[in-house]
Amino acid sequence: MKVLVTGATGNTGRHVVNGLRAHGVDVRALVRDLAKAPSGEVVQGDITDPAEAADGVDAVYLVWPFYSSEGIDKALKPFRGKKIVYVSSAAAEDGGFWSEVEETVAKVTDDWTFLRITGLATNTLGWIEQAKTGKVRAPYGQAKRSLVHEKDVADMAIKAFTEDHAKQIYLVTGPDALSQETQVKIIGQAMGKPVRWEEQPEQEAITQLGEEFAKSALPYWASLVDNPEPVSLDVPKVTGHPARSFEEWARERFS
Ligand SMILES: NC(=O)c1ccc[n+]([C@@H]2O[C@H](COP(=O)([O-])OP(=O)(O)OC[C@H]3O[C@@H](n4cnc5c(N)ncnc54)[C@H](OP(=O)(O)O)[C@@H]3O)[C@@H](O)[C@H]2O)c1
Repeated sequence: MKVLVTGATGNTGRHVVNGLRAHGVDVRALVRDLAKAPSGEVVQGDITDPAEAADGVDAVYLVWPFYSSEGIDKALKPFRGKKIVYVSSAAAEDGGFWSEVEETVAKVTDDWTFLRITGLATNTLGWIEQAKTGKVRAPYGQAKRSLVHEKDVADMAIKAFTEDHAKQIYLVTGPDALSQETQVKIIGQAMGKPVRWEEQPEQEAITQLGEEFAKSALPYWASLVDNPEPVSLDVPKVTGHPARSFEEWARERFS
């Protein structure tokens, strides 16, 4: 089997490339910028027009890095009947573009696996410059998120490519749901210095995040104060190891 890994320079894709190769799977990495390419077979291109990159592959790790499903039909044409492992979102449950992409994938092939992520631990990297100053000022410190380590997403993908997980939807989360305030504290512990949370008023957050992003993000974070993100057992069930904790992720990044 030969797998085209898209998003190969990204958080999850880089581990998918390495993990598949370690399993003896033939990999071709799709990158936009050759200077950032991993070693091994690489093709330069764009996910919106992957015909050339897809030539001769049997499967694709699909990162669709847009907040819209526009263009997905064309992008998936070269993968008709092939195995598609799509990095989706828990938000697909509620419709919107995530579910439109899933539906299109399922029309193109029966051999699909959806990895629905609640949130990646790497999202918290946006706080790091502030954390270095000892304080993170952001909205909804009590929003509880089940952030997942990018290596667990990759491990799920590797299982999806090397075993039969066709037509499976997995909820891919960390092992617990931690408040954002706790996440910041853990980052501080990993950095070896106290870092505290400072609650940011909503209007200031809208100005900082931009209206468009804030419109969807703020109500979502607000909802997580009383209704934390779910914690799923799909990572341990599929990979055979416990999901990596946020502490482990932070230690790897900052110690
Ligand atoms: N962050 C979350 O909490 C979250 C939650 C649910 C779902 N997801 C989904 O998870 C997926 C994987 O995320 P990730 O963290 O592994 O990726 P990532 O680190 O965000 O990187 C995105 C990747 O896509 C590549 N890319 C961007 N535009 C491209 C284009 N037009 N053609 C080809 N490649 C392009 C980037 O390449 P360059 O290096 O050239 O920029 C990079 O390799 C994303 O699709 C995201 O939507 C994320």
